[in-house]
Amino acid sequence: MKRDPAELQKEILALKEQTGATILAHNYVDGAIQDIADFCGDSLELSVKAKKYQADLIVFCGVRFMAETAKILSPDSRVILPNSTAGCPMADMAQVDEVRKYRKEHPDEVLVAYVNSTAAVKAQVDWCCTSGNVERVLNAIPADAKIMFLPDRNLGANMTAKLGRPMSLWSGCCPVHDRITLESIREARAAHPDAEVLVHPECRPMIVEAADAALSTGGMLRHVSESLFREFIIGTELGIIHRMMRENPDKVFHPLLPQVVCPDMKKITLENVLAALQGKCEEIVLDPEIMDAARKPIERMLALK
Ligand code: 13P
Ligand code: SF4
Repeated sequence: MKRDPAELQKEILALKEQTGATILAHNYVDGAIQDIADFCGDSLELSVKAKKYQADLIVFCGVRFMAETAKILSPDSRVILPNSTAGCPMADMAQVDEVRKYRKEHPDEVLVAYVNSTAAVKAQVDWCCTSGNVERVLNAIPADAKIMFLPDRNLGANMTAKLGRPMSLWSGCCPVHDRITLESIREARAAHPDAEVLVHPECRPMIVEAADAALSTGGMLRHVSESLFREFIIGTELGIIHRMMRENPDKVFHPLLPQVVCPDMKKITLENVLAALQGKCEEIVLDPEIMDAARKPIERMLALK
């Protein structure tokens, strides 16, 4: 029997208090979970929080690579992923053996891994980056260095277009953002001519070009609250609209396409957040050597101002 969400939220908050757990949530998870989280944010903001809190117990409402990043930055915390099947298909498009092989064959290249990658892959690379700091990271790498950007070919190509910096690109992508079409932008603009079109830089370059801005989820949230526009077309996972509406009750948000839903983010439910607090879900456990190696490119990225 489906339980009442408000009752579940109450039970979660009581247990959170009792256990002293910190609940971190990505901007894409279900709104009812965002509402009971201690902090909601994008990948960069969540990694900064995980490092800052060093909480005994972190319930991470997001996908596996995000919970792994929290564990790497807060190794003494118990980090719980409420649904162990919540992964990121793009992260799985770069397998550690292939990355190791690439590194061996191209010893002169600087490897930059988007945070949407496994801990084992991060352990093989020079830099990590998120969509919130990718420009800063790329600008910190000497201009004459050859770069392999992985696993997101779209984010990489968008950065090449923006910064004029050629890079070798892995062939991965986010299946959720990659399906956004030009047609959908044309139709949404026709239906809402006064709206600003915002997309995520995981979209294909032609989509980014057709939009008004391409921003990380945290960047989009800041942008909509500061923008003089009153209406927005949102080209990213729909879960973000919950927070946009809550923080900007006087503005209007239209999803670019109703199908832009990440099935993995939606695997996190109030029921399994409660189960996580009851000690019934998977704790993230990583090989200490992998954690130490993966921490280097992440810390290097976080050290950039
Ligand atoms: P952000 O870092 O912008 O929140 O993006 C994470 C992500 O998985 C986008 O699909
Ligand atoms: Fe991965 Fe795409 Fe889902 Fe983000 S939206 S977690 S990149 S599958």
